[in-house]
Amino acid sequence: MESFEYTAHTSRVIFGAGSLGRLPDEVARLGATRVLLLGRRAPDLGPLSVARFDGVAMHTPVEVTERALELLRASGADCLVSVGGGSATGLGKALAARTGLPQIAVPTTYAGSEMTPVVGETAGGGKATRRDPALVPRTVIYDVELTLGLPVPLSVTSGLNAMAHAVEALYSPQANPAIDSFALDALARLARALPALVDRPDDADARSDALVGAWLASICLGAVEMGLHHKLCHVLGGSFGLPHSETHAVVLPHVMAYNAPAVPAVMRRIAGALGVTDAPAGLVDLAARLGAPMSLASLGLRDSDLATAAELVTAKPYPNPRPVDDVLVVLQSAFSGEHPVSGGAPGIGAAFSSGGAPDIGWLTDEVVASFAGASSERLRDLLGDLVRRLHGFVADNDLTEDEWKTAIDFLTRTGEMCSPTRQEFVLLSDTLGVSSAVDLLTNSRSPATTPSAVLGPFYVEGPPAVPPGTDLAVDLPGVPLRADVRIVDLDGNPVPDAVVDVWQSNQDGFYDVQLPDLEGPVLRARFSSDADGRVWFRSILPSEYPIPDDGPVGEMLRATGRHPYRAPHLHFMINAPGFRRLITQLFVAGGRYLDSDAVFGVKDELIVEFPAAPDGTRTVEFTFRIAPLEVGRA
Ligand code: BEZ
Ligand code: FE
Repeated sequence: MESFEYTAHTSRVIFGAGSLGRLPDEVARLGATRVLLLGRRAPDLGPLSVARFDGVAMHTPVEVTERALELLRASGADCLVSVGGGSATGLGKALAARTGLPQIAVPTTYAGSEMTPVVGETAGGGKATRRDPALVPRTVIYDVELTLGLPVPLSVTSGLNAMAHAVEALYSPQANPAIDSFALDALARLARALPALVDRPDDADARSDALVGAWLASICLGAVEMGLHHKLCHVLGGSFGLPHSETHAVVLPHVMAYNAPAVPAVMRRIAGALGVTDAPAGLVDLAARLGAPMSLASLGLRDSDLATAAELVTAKPYPNPRPVDDVLVVLQSAFSGEHPVSGGAPGIGAAFSSGGAPDIGWLTDEVVASFAGASSERLRDLLGDLVRRLHGFVADNDLTEDEWKTAIDFLTRTGEMCSPTRQEFVLLSDTLGVSSAVDLLTNSRSPATTPSAVLGPFYVEGPPAVPPGTDLAVDLPGVPLRADVRIVDLDGNPVPDAVVDVWQSNQDGFYDVQLPDLEGPVLRARFSSDADGRVWFRSILPSEYPIPDDGPVGEMLRATGRHPYRAPHLHFMINAPGFRRLITQLFVAGGRYLDSDAVFGVKDELIVEFPAAPDGTRTVEFTFRIAPLEVGRA
């Protein structure tokens, strides 16, 4: 059973491109009128800004803080605004600690001290840490535009620094479900955004992804205690003068490999977030791909420093999932920059991960690299990601050769079942929820529109165009139905002349195409909406039906104890010039299988009452809201 304590620090966060423009409003929101600006990049706020301090320095030296304090007092400032990396934020905190003034932080790197209640100050060669919830900036503005110009090397190392916050949060003694999800999302975002930034430094979407990741990682840093990695970096920076974010970038995978045997489940979660099979190896590969420094030797550490560094690291207790008695091993592998091996035994059994199974990471990398010459970037990325996930699946499940053969045989038979009238692969995609996932991603980007639902295999192009009020059932048996629907735009205005195709099953659950003895198209037609956007027709109440289950998909359903039924529904396809096509279904409220639809197609908003009229006819009324072409993605 889980048990944890969690204190969330409160701050107001404004995120977005151009959000720096909100600064004057945010100052006013704090009730302030006289701002001390910290950092060269702080924008002039006109009469609001009473002074600027440009002398920000690394490691927050007390002498610098004293000078800024003099300026602060002389100016009568009642608010601090820092714009810059960790040093600017640190100075803001140091001043807030001395004056109690509210501060607004505008971080321009991914290093992430803006969400933490901590500031480390240096004086006379030593470092002292203050921790106080009041040190958390009251407001943090993340402006993606300010990060567009962040040089690639700094983007990379400060991004890896942010990843270190997320990694160590996951195995911290204070780890908890809220922080875990922030940490995993941060890792996933940074792992995909940083390579994109290296390729396209001014890609605003990738910058935004990275900055969200850095924010989430910063929350982790502020909420829980960090472990061996942070202690090591602290010692290497403080006692050996190694540069901050570069040191983080080098050390992290080596500490992860050392800690891996103590927290295998955490490492699996991290690997999942990174989309790799082995977390430490995946991270070192990522760092290499990003062109990050790879060894402490390259940062200027000397061989002879290692033993002293190891002693300093072990001198004081701090939380870490694996006892830190063997820290020299970590330092040695980080020093030489060799590929870390989970388990902390560099050089021994390099091809084997901690569980004794061969590590296939090198193979994955080789296959992914083979796509480098793909005809488009998208093709390269999709195939690379597919291979990483497939290899991850094989490795994580230790897939046997027999299981592999079974899967190949299943797919072969799925292909053999396909014909012009039967698409078993689409059915497989439907029953695995993949079709609904693609549908959701493609069509559900605008909450104001009617949700879409899968097309299914029973749509026939060009159904007969018929006048309003036509009976689709002709004289098929069933409970009579009258449907009255309207098509409107996002403002509720009627959409006339929309082409509305309708199709459904009969009362036994069959579509006409499944009944070769039926004459002509039945239970399917095309209508055109009138000036009021209206379409109405007669038919019969649709019933639940089984999807075709006489092939491999049916086998899969039976093998997993699933039924093949779809909840009763009417299909609609709505096309109107200037609008996005809407393909959807209306489900009969109270019908069977609404909770366990075989193709995961049911959405709450599409479950509709079909009340009975006095003469027993069931009725349905519904308004479809369709989106103009420019809403959503192509
Ligand atoms: C349908 O609703 O027609 C359908 C959708 C997916 C698979 C099978 C049938
Ligand atoms: Fe259907």
